Amino acid sequence: AAGAGLNLDDIQGDVLIGMKKNRELFYFFTIADVADFKPKLSGSILPLITSTTQLLDVSTQPETALNIAFSQTGLTALNVTESLGDSIFSAGQFADLANLGDFAPSHNWVAEFAGTGIHGVMLFASDTDDKINTAVTNLESALGDSITKVYSLQAGARPGAEAGHEHFGFLDGISNPAVTGFTANPMAGQAVVAPGTILLSETGDATTRPSWAKDGTFLVFRQLKQLVPEFNAFLTANPIVDGNLTAQQGSDLLGARMVGRWKSGAPVDLSPLVDDPALGADPTRNNNFTFQHADFTLTTDQTHCPFSAHIRKTRPRADLGTPEDAVHHIMRAGIPYGPEVSASEASSGTTSTERGLAFVAYQSSLSNGFHFLQQLWANNANFVHAGTGADPIIGALAGAQRVVSGLNPTNAATTTTLTTDFVVSRGGEYFFAPSLSAIASKLSV
Ligand code: HEM
Repeated sequence: AAGAGLNLDDIQGDVLIGMKKNRELFYFFTIADVADFKPKLSGSILPLITSTTQLLDVSTQPETALNIAFSQTGLTALNVTESLGDSIFSAGQFADLANLGDFAPSHNWVAEFAGTGIHGVMLFASDTDDKINTAVTNLESALGDSITKVYSLQAGARPGAEAGHEHFGFLDGISNPAVTGFTANPMAGQAVVAPGTILLSETGDATTRPSWAKDGTFLVFRQLKQLVPEFNAFLTANPIVDGNLTAQQGSDLLGARMVGRWKSGAPVDLSPLVDDPALGADPTRNNNFTFQHADFTLTTDQTHCPFSAHIRKTRPRADLGTPEDAVHHIMRAGIPYGPEVSASEASSGTTSTERGLAFVAYQSSLSNGFHFLQQLWANNANFVHAGTGADPIIGALAGAQRVVSGLNPTNAATTTTLTTDFVVSRGGEYFFAPSLSAIASKLSV
């Protein structure tokens, strides 16, 4: 990656390439004393903010990387009066709860997310929790009583061979869009988006913004609890039955078709019946598919990939025509949280300690990005075709039973009823991750 077109010194590091570290702490705070905080924002926090340029080169990566973002109430606390031009951001995620399909009113939200009380989030990333904790302690002592910690979530890559895999076991972080002017050589099949799809006021962002908002981006944070033993028990109880498959293979196939990829990352569209780990690991091939096959009809064929599969729901590729839609894309930078499944959880099929995905996504418009993907694609039973059903991984219908079709490759009309949501939203917030120069020239003055 090389960025002739973008000011990579000014764009926070997590946005385009991720933090490149195994451990990450999400530190949510309120601004307790704005007059005290502003000079500390420029004097103590800004020098530690890690830019894209710093992360791109291993030799300039800090031991602990830091990024920061503010909610609408945080910007208001900083006396920012101009609108950023995104009403979903301004209202905050709690106001969006019903649109996202989260349970209401007795929802599962973490108490601190339920409302608009969080002003900002700091993302600390490093190789070890000790290094993160040292950085947090140092920064807390510099900031004194200017901020108050509200909540934090410790996250990190899973151990050993599971590193890079989310808690259900599937390789994650494979498919993020290439950004024109930044990504030098997009991989075959990788979506290519204008920089303005992710960054405010860049080419492709048509909304009028205050000048200082340029190269900032909306950060969606969601604490998504995953019921892993329950998910595994469901797969075990409902193997796809095909004369050639063992029960275990049938269960693995069901899981792969719910995601649209095998645990190795191999897309079921290219390898429909068996995993192909070499394909999964090969970035030149693992995105090179469209769901369109020459000898099958795109609108009816689910022998390769179900219409409801998570990756087809969230990026329908050729389903929406060619060239591919370039607007409804997000840059994902999530990381797992919580412990590995214990032996007793595995044998009981019941979660006793919370684990899941600290979901992070960047986009220049929530109504085109995360909010759109969750509400209008994942939760929409009639997308991409009538009767498809909601996304079996992240679809959320406020707890309603969900009926999904197409999971059985030999008979697409067979429906599967999901009585449990395997992913349960514990809420989150919408933030604005400003450019470094906006912190210096606007937010801290
Ligand atoms: C891709 C899992 C939540 C949007 C993927 C992949 C996995 C996965 C395994 C395939 C790897 C890859 O392409 O990088 C999960 C899990 C989630 C979750 C376990 C919750 C715990 C979400 C949410 C959204 C989302 C909330 C947005 C509303 C996407 C997108 C892709 C993706 C856009 C890439 C599709 C493509 O480009 O082909 N996810 N995901 N995911 N996910 Fe999720």
